[in-house]
Amino acid sequence: MFGTSTHKVLIKNIKSIALHHPDGITLKSGKEMAQLSTFDDAYIAIEDDTIVDIGSMSDLHGITDWNQLEIVDAENKYVLPAFCDSHTHLVFAKSREREFVDRINGLTYEEIAARGGGILNSAKAMANASEDELIESALKRLNNIMNLGTGAVEIKSGYGLTVESELKMLRVVKRLKELSPLTIKATFLGAHAFPTEFKENHEGYLDLIINEMLPVIAEEGLAEYVDAFCERGYYSIEETVRVVEAAANYGLKPKLHVNQFTNSGGLQMAIDLGAISADHLEQMGEAEINALKNSNTMPVSLPSCSYFLNLPYTPLRDMIDAGLPVAIATDYNPGSTPSGNMQFLLSLAATKQRLTPSEAINAITINGAKAMELSDSHGSVSIGKKANLIVTKEIPSVDYMAYSFGENHVDQMILNGRLMN
Ligand code: NIG
Ligand code: FE
Repeated sequence: MFGTSTHKVLIKNIKSIALHHPDGITLKSGKEMAQLSTFDDAYIAIEDDTIVDIGSMSDLHGITDWNQLEIVDAENKYVLPAFCDSHTHLVFAKSREREFVDRINGLTYEEIAARGGGILNSAKAMANASEDELIESALKRLNNIMNLGTGAVEIKSGYGLTVESELKMLRVVKRLKELSPLTIKATFLGAHAFPTEFKENHEGYLDLIINEMLPVIAEEGLAEYVDAFCERGYYSIEETVRVVEAAANYGLKPKLHVNQFTNSGGLQMAIDLGAISADHLEQMGEAEINALKNSNTMPVSLPSCSYFLNLPYTPLRDMIDAGLPVAIATDYNPGSTPSGNMQFLLSLAATKQRLTPSEAINAITINGAKAMELSDSHGSVSIGKKANLIVTKEIPSVDYMAYSFGENHVDQMILNGRLMN
């Protein structure tokens, strides 16, 4: 079972492994999403950062070298793939609870933004933050979400909105990739809002994105993806297409914010642009579901954003019933979702979007990995994949994770084959 490497872990007595995929599948669609693909009474062998063997406890014999072998006893516990959060803005300088109170007192998210709050408020704080401060606060957030089960995460820029600050954010993300045990993907979201000084001069800011930011991002290897907030009051379809096409020249692929407040062609544009994912999708009709059916774009729902802003939820039930794959991510950011807790998403998906716990777990693991092009290495428990695993506490079933909300059901995290706690 084990080779000659010096770092070996054996997880034994596992009550059940969820998302056990010996068949190498990389996403689940429609009815497949209801399958949890379990393997009961099992062990998992890990060497260095890779899962090297999975088997039945009754077949576990032949270990001759117990030296340098770390044992995790998972009696009465479940093992799941670490969660894959494909959409966050978790590098930010300041929280925005003032706006939260303003919303309770009657203002809408869009009204707050129009008064210079919202994204522009975060950009002001970002301008004054040092790289070191941003790294320190982001590392704390990464550590928090890891303890809640997350093992891979996408992080966007978009609170800079100047050449200097956007690059600063992305350089911070690059450092986080080196410093954090989580797998991180970086997305350039310079097109998040128009800065005040370019409110009447969109061309001027697009010029900065295209001619000042993108060349440096490419040269320094600062991002894998490009994003834009395609929405009324933010970026039009034409503006989004220009940013995405310019980024394509540097090899950045699109993952786009579309159909959050309005349904006016954003999703169809994302599909036409070959987007890896189309995110938000609170505003959907039959035409949008049909458009997704003929595409490889992963639809991503962000239910904790709907919860926090009191907005409609993405109609995931209809989408799955239509045969689509769906992913669910947090949107962790200081304005619309100040939480990176993926276990809470399981509860929201079940209670607000009528997903079974199994469907919700597939949406935050294997399909989340797909939404950031990590499905060859992440998102399921398979031989050859990265050993990024959750060992749960002693819980009666996997469904319990979605049912018993507000609690942390994660006991131990294993990332890159290492025990994190
Ligand atoms: O995904 N919708 C656009 N951007 C973020 C919110 C940004 C903010 O309010 O700071 C989102 O919800
Ligand atoms: Fe977002």
